[in-house]
Amino acid sequence: MEIIKDVKAMKAYVKAIKTKGETICLVPTMGYLHEGHLDLMRMGRPLADHLIISIFVNPTQFGAGEDLDKYPRDLPRDTRLAESVGVDCIFNPEAADMYPQGYATYVNVEGITEGLCGASRPGHFRGVTTVVAKLFNIIEPDISVFGEKDYQQLAVIRRMVEDLDMNVKILAHGTVREEDGLAMSSRNKYLNPEERKNALVLNRSLKFAQDRVQSGERNAAAIKSEVEKMISSTPGCTIDYVEIVDPDLLHPLDTLETRAVMALAVRVGKTRLIDNITLTA
Ligand code: PAF
Repeated sequence: MEIIKDVKAMKAYVKAIKTKGETICLVPTMGYLHEGHLDLMRMGRPLADHLIISIFVNPTQFGAGEDLDKYPRDLPRDTRLAESVGVDCIFNPEAADMYPQGYATYVNVEGITEGLCGASRPGHFRGVTTVVAKLFNIIEPDISVFGEKDYQQLAVIRRMVEDLDMNVKILAHGTVREEDGLAMSSRNKYLNPEERKNALVLNRSLKFAQDRVQSGERNAAAIKSEVEKMISSTPGCTIDYVEIVDPDLLHPLDTLETRAVMALAVRVGKTRLIDNITLTA
């Protein structure tokens, strides 16, 4: 397995693949890999001749006061894990190579970036779409796989790819959970044992919402209010948002008709966690 740290070298590696007419699947990550990431890689492995992952803690998607500096990093561990699922190459650039002096170009998707995480993390999706567009330009993947845990991110990337006529097929992988239901995330590492236990309220409240829909509740405000009560009565948990939205356009819904997504962001102690569920009426 190759580890490439330089944009020029990455482009040369890609050029050699493309010259042979072979295909690439890219799994973009910020590293500190967990089973959720590895499942994206396992999904991508048989779909292309070459499986490339990127490991890059992208500074442009972190706001002031967020966890850019303390975001967990462990390249030797990530390298072993990536190798174990058949990754051919890790692209691990430096921020100064991705955003050199004088860098001035950003990709901004409008509309669906404004609510949910976009409202509480201004500029976040502009950073995500910019780096993903750059990765797509450097690596020229035929396929790229993203996790559904970051539901809004997936929708925003699909929008960008369609709007900018990018030649890449976006595939989604369902949220991977720990045995007790907590959605896997590199940020789970920040939780102390007490917070780890309290964080289970995210998945519990999403399942509760699905049960309410299955027993006939169609009023989004009623479901939201019950979920908000569950979360705010859990020690150490502060709600950032609880929303029920259209699965494609992500605008808030008053009434559930066929399909909706309940998405939530909750601070457990100082750690901000997100999760979501598709609600089927
Ligand atoms: O989901 C992530 O880990 C990041 O937002 C991504 C897509 C790798 C872009 O930095």
